[in-house]
Amino acid sequence: MANSNLSNAKNAKNDEFYTQYHDIEKEVAAYLEYNPDVFRDKTVLLPCDDPEWSNFTKFFAQNFDRFGLKKLISTSYAPDSKTYKGYYEPTLFEQNDPQYDKEKTTKNGKIFTLSHDKSGDGKIDVNDLEWEYLTSSGDFKSHEIMKLRDEADIIITNPPFSLFREFLAWIVQAEKQFLVIGNINAITYKELFPLIQKDKIWLGATNFNTGMYFKVPDDFVYADSYKFEREQNGEKVNRVPGVCWFTNLDHGRRHRPLPLMSVADNLKFSSHKEIKGKIAYAHYDNYNAIEVPYTDAIPSDYTGTMGVPITFLDKYNPEQFEICGMCENENLYGLKTKIYTTAECKQAYFAKFGKPGTYDLNASGVVIRDGLQEKVYQRILIKHKNTAE
Ligand SMILES: C[S@@+](CC[C@H](N)C(=O)[O-])C[C@H]1O[C@@H](n2cnc3c(N)ncnc32)[C@H](O)[C@@H]1O
Repeated sequence: MANSNLSNAKNAKNDEFYTQYHDIEKEVAAYLEYNPDVFRDKTVLLPCDDPEWSNFTKFFAQNFDRFGLKKLISTSYAPDSKTYKGYYEPTLFEQNDPQYDKEKTTKNGKIFTLSHDKSGDGKIDVNDLEWEYLTSSGDFKSHEIMKLRDEADIIITNPPFSLFREFLAWIVQAEKQFLVIGNINAITYKELFPLIQKDKIWLGATNFNTGMYFKVPDDFVYADSYKFEREQNGEKVNRVPGVCWFTNLDHGRRHRPLPLMSVADNLKFSSHKEIKGKIAYAHYDNYNAIEVPYTDAIPSDYTGTMGVPITFLDKYNPEQFEICGMCENENLYGLKTKIYTTAECKQAYFAKFGKPGTYDLNASGVVIRDGLQEKVYQRILIKHKNTAE
């Protein structure tokens, strides 16, 4: 399964995956390239962070002046509230501070703010960060963090994987600009997909095909199925596949048209065996659409609806394509042409697998291959824009 590492993370309720500096830098560069003033005079909130060692805090504090930020706020979650009970010791930075409190260090979250040149060295950077304990644990759902959310112009973080759905609802409700890390499979959430369809949320600039490596805690407890994979720059890191950035900040990559071949050329020259040499693209039995199993096999001249893998969103250019719906949410989007009966689902299972069972044909697009009904993977239904049908 493509996202098995993430599922494991969810099952283990292990949310301690820390984003690497270069991943943040690379992603943010795309927004700055598109709009150099994207952060100018803005208050940026970094919730679900650990500001003492977070690369998000470090990156935005170091670039405070260059980005023209008005204020940076970063908050952490109390160690006692974390699901992952690893070894915890307050940093020397905290212990040496007069406000250090033995009890609060585990029970309360912390808030770091940056807005002025505290040190008087003529620039605003990491050395000017000020901190105190939050009155609460730093839970993003708490009143205390909600108030900060409402104060912010832009919210940026890698939120806990196990709470991604809740976090997304929290951020969408705020109607703020944001940039967050999540799993590509979240696009199927009924809270998220309509917003992607309406071009209110999109995927970030970093191509996510290879997954992303996150730093894991030094004392990470390795379950059999979930070991740390390698070291990068002397730190233990784990790869999480299918991870992408979700945002409503604009970037140039999503306005670049996807280069495509015509139907005829795909059938002649495609590198995919499902397409090359065929007389036509497979047509679904239960949608009025063709099945396009790979994004690079989308034909340039097909004017009807096409079912494409969800990874298409990484290449989605809203000027080039319209998103019509998603196979799995047919009730929500009403694009189905046929609903199979239970008897048909049982019959299809027997025909395909040679034993009794139920093939849930209604859960996806269905093509007929070698005379048998076959479900395809999750599909998004799209159409070319500016084409007469
Ligand atoms: C995936 S980690 C990412 C940390 C950091 N943002 C980064 O990218 O390096 C998510 C963090 O959220 C914290 N967390 C878990 N539940 C939370 C909650 N309800 N409210 C705030 N933070 C939470 C976890 O303890 C963890 O430190």
